Amino acid sequence: MVSSTPLTYQSGFDNEFSSEALPGALPVGQNSPQQVPYGLYTELLSGTAFTVPRSEARRTWMYRIKPSANHPKYQRLECQITGGRLGPVTPNRLRWNPQAIPAEATDFIDGLITLAATSDAEQASGVSVHLYRANTSMQRVFFNADGELLIVPEQGRLRLATELGLLDLEPLEIAVIPRGMKFRVELLDTTARGYICENHGAPLRLPDLGPIGSNGLANARDFLAPVAHYEDLDAPVELVQKFLGELWATELDHSPLDVVAWHGNNVPYKYDLRRFNTIGTVSYDHPDPSIFTVLTSPSDTHGQANVDFVIFPPRWMVAEKTFRPPWFHRNLMNEFMGLIQGAYDAKAEGFSPGGASLHNCMSAHGPDNATTTTAIAADLKPHKIDNTMAFMFETSRVLRPSQYALECPQLQADYDACWAGMAKTFDKGRI
Ligand SMILES: [Fe+2]
Repeated sequence: MVSSTPLTYQSGFDNEFSSEALPGALPVGQNSPQQVPYGLYTELLSGTAFTVPRSEARRTWMYRIKPSANHPKYQRLECQITGGRLGPVTPNRLRWNPQAIPAEATDFIDGLITLAATSDAEQASGVSVHLYRANTSMQRVFFNADGELLIVPEQGRLRLATELGLLDLEPLEIAVIPRGMKFRVELLDTTARGYICENHGAPLRLPDLGPIGSNGLANARDFLAPVAHYEDLDAPVELVQKFLGELWATELDHSPLDVVAWHGNNVPYKYDLRRFNTIGTVSYDHPDPSIFTVLTSPSDTHGQANVDFVIFPPRWMVAEKTFRPPWFHRNLMNEFMGLIQGAYDAKAEGFSPGGASLHNCMSAHGPDNATTTTAIAADLKPHKIDNTMAFMFETSRVLRPSQYALECPQLQADYDACWAGMAKTFDKGRI
């Protein structure tokens, strides 16, 4: 474990951030001067193609002790991510119990499990969904060439030591690591467990707010980026990358977390889900769950996300004459759900923190029998749903479960049973 000291952050979303760990390290008025202060090397990390519209461009200039190009050949690792090939794809509704944290020493990379993916990792869109479990801090450093990583802790605090600085993360916070950004996951508690949405498409951004106006949902000022923090270490360090879904490693003679100064908007960041400004009905019915969108990755089809990150936070329920749980539905979009704490208001049991469910395109689902019966009979007073945080990775493409996900003992054999035997209450004589 590493010691937990409060960190400094920069506030905002998609800003032109800048930071220097040594005074005067950041070049002024020029990105790539002939001679960089302190003898540093200049390096650009692009998160988008050079020619995307300016509002979508993500890139960061780094000033570092050694350029990233200074590495020997990568070798494919013997030990790959648990998951196996995708499929066979089933239209069935699926739900999993939480995965145990291994007893043997397991770092963030060792403990990864791929649960589902929309496609192979070389596609320029889609998502993969992973779980992580760890009981040991990483000694090695990792980067993902296949997409950005949205990390959703469920248990245990983490310190993310990234090229651009440090982020401390705890359950009910999330972090996003850009595609290609090098980082090391250190544990601030004895164990850690959570979810990862690997986004192969356009970088996550804040959703448009439409008639809501210029405030609400996740506010830009609550997103936190790190300040520069570098390691000047001349010692062997293993650098692992995920490339087209497979792990490869090389050995450096120095720490790759050696960026002394940087500026740009392609940055790791974190956000506290407890700061989400939740919007809901104050009359009747309830809005579509898109009202709970924290971050979105757009697709090429306007309004249809590659992936939305949606949360179901504590909130007051005040709708009159309304069936208050989520209604029964069949959607175009594909829904992977997880639970960080408490209970989800559509399920009385069977969906535990650390567990997961998958409802793909047009699969019929909604509240279980017990929740439905209770909601229809409820005396509707203002009621607060509290001490809960469920979330959804909602994607426009079908999520194909991995072979491991379909064969592991955590897959519930009887998920359909929560909707079985629903009473027929239809009565032609009753209006
Ligand atoms: Fe749903």
